[in-house]
Amino acid sequence: MSRAMSDPAIRYDGLLSGGAMVAGVIGHPIRHSLSPRLHGAWIRALGIDAAYVPLQTRPDTFEMTVNALTGGTFRGVNVTLPFKERALALADDATDRAAASGAANVILYREDGTLLADNTDGEGLLYALRRQAPGWQPDRGPVTVIGAGGAARGAVAALAAAGAADIRILNRTRARADTLSALLPCKAFGWDDAATAFDGTATVINATSGQLTGDTPLPLPPASDGGIVVMDMVYKPLETPFLAACRALGHQTVDGLDMLIGQAIPSFVAFYGVAPPDLPVREILLAAMVPAPGDL
Ligand code: ATR
Repeated sequence: MSRAMSDPAIRYDGLLSGGAMVAGVIGHPIRHSLSPRLHGAWIRALGIDAAYVPLQTRPDTFEMTVNALTGGTFRGVNVTLPFKERALALADDATDRAAASGAANVILYREDGTLLADNTDGEGLLYALRRQAPGWQPDRGPVTVIGAGGAARGAVAALAAAGAADIRILNRTRARADTLSALLPCKAFGWDDAATAFDGTATVINATSGQLTGDTPLPLPPASDGGIVVMDMVYKPLETPFLAACRALGHQTVDGLDMLIGQAIPSFVAFYGVAPPDLPVREILLAAMVPAPGDL
């Protein structure tokens, strides 16, 4: 720990010391990641001797890059697309929730040089639902997850662990839904059986990478008086075509931006050993999502 950190009489001046706590986010590409702004805003507000950096790696150098950061300076890294499954495979140990999700969005560098994989995406999912749909509970009724890839698997694992008793997987390719239902407690449905998958459902989560455009529209939960909560894990755009269609049907909608925040909170605690401060981070991220001139 640096002198500024260990002596409260010395106010940290915002410059890193040689003993700074460093973490980051690794992915390909990483340029558009919002995580450095999010963690950076918390670090700046706390005034701690710490940094959070974007780490771009080529697909073939992911493992080499992660392994190269052991040794003390790096506390850990967040892992984003397309490396979450490889992060779990690379780590020496994994938390139960990472193992159940089949993927890791956090790697922690332990003092003995080993890597621990964790997954806080599920926490982020529950955080977003609770924040934008006040009073929402995992056991309020059936949950229908659209999709059967890695994102859907993580959602099912988190919902099951949080107490959801009736989880339904609805996927374009029925066989992938069957594969998921063999791994985790959920029932599988194909597109042709969407009505059954939505029957009496209380919560719908879009975990596909597809959208309601072109010739492959996602099935929509039917209009109901019951107040179905519909979430999209995607946050660019904030209101996806799927969410817009669900809102037009009268459903309560939850966007994916709070999921990003909700997974970052426990990541920050794991990296820096302190809770993030209370900041309007959603607004900070929305401001950062306005395209920069170079992005147009
Ligand atoms: P991820 O790890 O992000 O979940 P993935 O493993 O490639 O990515 O899974 C993508 C999911 O989105 C799958 O459920 C896929 O459906 P299929 O299994 O039928 O391929 C779904 N998906 C992608 N594009 C889609 C589209 N245009 N319409 C419907 N589903 C789509």
